[in-house]
Amino acid sequence: MSYAIAVLLSGSGSNLQALIDAQHEGNLGHTQICLVVSDQAEAYGLQRALVHQIPSAYLPLRHTRQREQRRAMRAAWEQRLATLVQTFTPDLVILAGFMRILSPLFLEQFPERVINQHPALLPDDGGASYTTSSGLCIPTLRGAHVVSDALAQQLPVTGCTIHRVTPRVDDGPVLARTEVPILPHDNVETLHERIKLEERRMIVEVVNQLSQW
Ligand code: GAR
Repeated sequence: MSYAIAVLLSGSGSNLQALIDAQHEGNLGHTQICLVVSDQAEAYGLQRALVHQIPSAYLPLRHTRQREQRRAMRAAWEQRLATLVQTFTPDLVILAGFMRILSPLFLEQFPERVINQHPALLPDDGGASYTTSSGLCIPTLRGAHVVSDALAQQLPVTGCTIHRVTPRVDDGPVLARTEVPILPHDNVETLHERIKLEERRMIVEVVNQLSQW
C-alpha cells in the first residue's frame, strides 16, 4: 500500500525536488507525492510538480483592506485548502517553505499529519532558547526571517528543524534537527543554501521514517 504525501509550498520547492528525486532513485519506499499546492502563482515549486505530472494547484489568499472581511476570507481560504487536500487523502502534509500560518481550522482536519520545515534550531521544550551540541545556549529563532536573524544576532551556529505542526507557530514535537555552523563571510543566500542542503537530506529521512510506522 502506498503512503501519500501532500506538499504545500510558496517558493522554489528545492525540498519538493529532493523528494521527487528520492522517489525516482528508489529511495522513498512506497511513498507517492499525491498533491502540490502553492499560495503563490510564480512559485517555482509548481513548475517542478507540473514537469513530473504531479497534481498541483495554485490557491491564492486574496487580500482585503476591510478588517471584518479579512478573517472570513482567511477562514474560507483555509477551508478550501483543507477540502482540496482531503480530496487526495494524504497520510502526511508537508509544509515545505509554505509561508502561511495554518490555524486549528486546517490542522484539526489532519490530526498529527502536518509537519513543517523550519530553517533554524527549535528546542524540544518549546522554549526561548536552544542548547547546541557543544553546550552553547542560543536564542530560539521563530518567524519568517530566521536565516537573516541568525546573522544579525551574530550567532556562531544555526540549523534546521522538522517538527509536527501545532497551533503554536514554529513549535511542536521535533522529528529531526541539524546544526549548521555560520561561517565568517556568510550572507543570507550562502547560509540559507547550506541549511537547505541539510533540509533536503532530512526531509527524505523523515518521510521514510514516518512512512514505515
Ligand atoms: C526552507 O529553508 C524551509 O525551511 C523554509 O523555506 C525554505 C524552502 O525552500 N521554510 C520557512 O521559512 C517556513 N517559515 P525550498 O522552497 O527551496 O524548498
